[in-house]
Amino acid sequence: MLTEKEKLDALAHLGIDLNRIHDLDILMERILTEARRFVSADAGSIYIRDKDMLHFTYTQNDTLQKRLSAGEKLIYSTFSIPADEKSIAGYVTESGQPLNITDVYNIEPTKPYRFNKEIDEYAHYTTRSVLTIPLKNYNNDILGILQIINAQDEAMQVIPFSEKDEKIMLHFASIAAVALERAQMTRAILLRMIRMAEMRDPKETGAHVNRVGGYAVEIYEKWAHHRKLRSKEIDKNRDLLRMAAMLHDVGKIAISDVILKKPGRFNHDEYEVMKQHTVFGAQLFLDRQSDFDEAAAQVALNHHERWDGDGYPGHLDVATGKPLKGFEQPDGGAKGKLREEIPLYGRIVALADVFDALSSARVYKEAWDESEVLSKIEENSGRHFDPELVEIFFSCLDIFRSIRQRYADED
Ligand code: C2E
Ligand code: SIN
Ligand code: SIN
Ligand code: SIN
Ligand code: FE
Ligand code: FE
Repeated sequence: MLTEKEKLDALAHLGIDLNRIHDLDILMERILTEARRFVSADAGSIYIRDKDMLHFTYTQNDTLQKRLSAGEKLIYSTFSIPADEKSIAGYVTESGQPLNITDVYNIEPTKPYRFNKEIDEYAHYTTRSVLTIPLKNYNNDILGILQIINAQDEAMQVIPFSEKDEKIMLHFASIAAVALERAQMTRAILLRMIRMAEMRDPKETGAHVNRVGGYAVEIYEKWAHHRKLRSKEIDKNRDLLRMAAMLHDVGKIAISDVILKKPGRFNHDEYEVMKQHTVFGAQLFLDRQSDFDEAAAQVALNHHERWDGDGYPGHLDVATGKPLKGFEQPDGGAKGKLREEIPLYGRIVALADVFDALSSARVYKEAWDESEVLSKIEENSGRHFDPELVEIFFSCLDIFRSIRQRYADED
């Protein structure tokens, strides 16, 4: 538990810490972790507002987490509620004021809002004290709702949130909202870049890239824990990788329509042209302004290399697209990168991308059943894919399914 002095120190650093995070999903995770730490709360959720609706987007719960084995993640479903006075989060959206409830099972009958018991029943959890705070930007627009659940004393008994908690969380929320708005803007810019590619290539959808980003981060995180990387470094890399993975195919924007939109299978020459999307993608980030550009170039360039060396585009100079000296092949191409010659993010996104491509319908193919997809991945361990990453992949299937649900294809 933090002392008052520690809380003030932490609050002073919060803005800097949160503003280092670029990716929206990763930011929400951090906001909730920090908020709960400040007031020693067992659980919490974030709702994001979209006009008259509140979307339940992210949740944490230590009690439920402890029922899982180490390294497993809490699976939750996403849902939406109207932003009206009938729910606690809706009421706070309307009033714009924080709401501190001692026991959600004993709300005064005169209040317009009720606690939704279904969530507890579904999760086998008992919610008692709930502190709900609006996340407002500088214009006082409500971006979302931060809900902190079950304050705990030193003996881990559930207690009400204090007036002090309320004050500190109000301050916390004003800092978090600024970071949230910026991350929403970054996400919107990335999705716009992706939508530009999508106008050319209808299957490169926002949902597909969000899933690939989500899978890639899960795989990276487990890999990094096995390697005992420092958590600060893991957090930073997760953030970069998620955005970079979303842009893995952005180089397709430079591929001609005849090829990109071909409704059937490619012939040899068409496939050779398509392979250039890796180099075009890397060229977009060639001037390397930031760590993000570095990661995005690494992913775009290397996501079609294969562990066994048979992938593309191989060892070449990104600026010219020509093979590096000593790596020329008789057909004019470059020798494929082999095993660890392929940068890690490339190996990870290769796996995430193929998993999603096989699981989804394409203009040139039907979606495969999950069992077919999984045997394809398994059989390509050590061939197309890094076997260590395939092993990690198979330990993440539940969380992949929840990512698939969260970012489902619209049709
Ligand atoms: P994509 O559709 O996102 O597919 C990414 C990767 O998933 C493919 O990389 C491949 O490794 C794997 N994959 C996708 N579908 C299948 C499948 O039916 N069977 C198998 N065994 N693997 C599959 P790849 O082959 O290098 O292709 C890169 C991109 O080129 C594809 O991205 C897609 O946009 C395009 N493409 C590839 N083949 C064809 C084709 O025959 N027709 C059309 N129209 N596009 C194709
Ligand atoms: C962006 O600006 O779209 C992402 C790049 C970054 O935030 O570093
Ligand atoms: C690049 O050179 O653009 C990516 C980094 C790498 O391939 O090592
Ligand atoms: C793949 O590497 O994803 C496909 C290779 C194969 O067809 O076995
Ligand atoms: Fe690709
Ligand atoms: Fe893709």
